[in-house]
Amino acid sequence: MTSPRTFRIKSFGCQMNVYDGERMAELLHEQGMRPVADGEDADLVVLNTCHIREKAAEKAYSDVGRLRREDGSKPLIALAGCVAQAEGEEARTRSRMIDMVVGPQAYHRLPQMVAEAAAGRPTVDTDMPAISKFDALPKRRRTGLSAFLSVQEGCDKFCTYCVVPYTRGAEISRPARDILIEAQQLVDGGAREITLLGQNVNAWSDDGFGGLASLIRTLARMDGLERIRYTTSHPVNMDDDLIAAHAEVPQLMPYLHLPVQSGSDPILRAMNRSHTVDSYLRTIDRVRAAKPDIAISGDFIVGFPGETDADFEATLRIVDAVRYASAFSFKYSPRPGTPAATMENQIPAHIMDERLQRLQARLAEHSSAFNRGTVGKTTRILIDRVGRKPGQMIGKSPWLQSVVVETDAPIGALLDVAVTGAGPNSLFGDLLTRAEAA
Ligand code: 5AD
Ligand code: SF4
Repeated sequence: MTSPRTFRIKSFGCQMNVYDGERMAELLHEQGMRPVADGEDADLVVLNTCHIREKAAEKAYSDVGRLRREDGSKPLIALAGCVAQAEGEEARTRSRMIDMVVGPQAYHRLPQMVAEAAAGRPTVDTDMPAISKFDALPKRRRTGLSAFLSVQEGCDKFCTYCVVPYTRGAEISRPARDILIEAQQLVDGGAREITLLGQNVNAWSDDGFGGLASLIRTLARMDGLERIRYTTSHPVNMDDDLIAAHAEVPQLMPYLHLPVQSGSDPILRAMNRSHTVDSYLRTIDRVRAAKPDIAISGDFIVGFPGETDADFEATLRIVDAVRYASAFSFKYSPRPGTPAATMENQIPAHIMDERLQRLQARLAEHSSAFNRGTVGKTTRILIDRVGRKPGQMIGKSPWLQSVVVETDAPIGALLDVAVTGAGPNSLFGDLLTRAEAA
């Protein structure tokens, strides 16, 4: 096979994967390859997979199978991301169509792997090298208005249901210096909002520099960077300094994604979450004391092994206590190799279904209430796309809601609006003043 000239990257799963996908694209671009247009056939396809739930590996293999072309040929195929990490060599046994298997800590080596594969030599690289892949990645160039920036990877918490500690490895923080350089490149490339990413982003630290709050305070001084967000946080790492930053740093958006998973202490213990219902609620109180209007978002798992009706009712109670602005909720999915997968009292599917439905209905009530609560407020939105009707643009509120407004302002504009109404998926606003053009 000749060297590929075009590529396509398909990312599944979390924002970290979106970020990794962008970095892989930049890397391939630097090698002289170009991304394909919609509908065009690619010489190289990278499937950047997610392993967090259900049948992830099966789905990845069937996605690989579908890359076979009508004439029987196929593109070069790289299996990347967390399924690649988990499957390793096994991936090539299960599908001979795969030319490269590259884990999340090894993708800086993709160009060499592609060259090998094009010469007919398949490669598998699921190393977690001590030297950071970030050092080997090209500079950030043009970027969207809202950019992701990975600052921390991996997890040492070992929640008993979760594969992340195995697929992403140990908790590692990137040095502050590198992050600030990348942030400046993103801002120079057009970003006005940066979301700092990490599996445990609030555990980020750099000796001598400080924790995430110090990083946020430094970023807030960067000219042109209007908005800062971070995700995902662990309740035990929600320290006073970070909470204080929410009160003090205007660029830090009033939004906190703080997964709780369950509202029952025995289940939290079995999950090895290292927080209790009470300690979580106290954290939320501290956060709200600092930033009363903050939007809290969460993750939930229903049907963890041993979850009783009473445990589930307790989860509904914590939902009511916190009044989440938004949330993700999942049925427990046993992941091979995790402790919970072999626990007794696995919950039957129909019970999980019923609990998930009830939980989601309750969460929807709270998110509608939150959205209705912003009606009548004046707020600033960052225009990020064109609306459905002519003359309409859509922007993000500080609380991450989509707000539809009639304006001819371009993408990237920051506009002051009065929120006039709330629909199921978005808010409606009237333009006040043009805060600042892009
Ligand atoms: N089953 C169901 N949900 C899971 N999550 C992580 N592992 C599992 C699993 N085995 C959910 C958690 C986590 C989110 C990213 O995915 O809620 O916060
Ligand atoms: Fe998984 Fe728990 Fe680590 Fe989050 S904190 S990545 S849920 S092990």
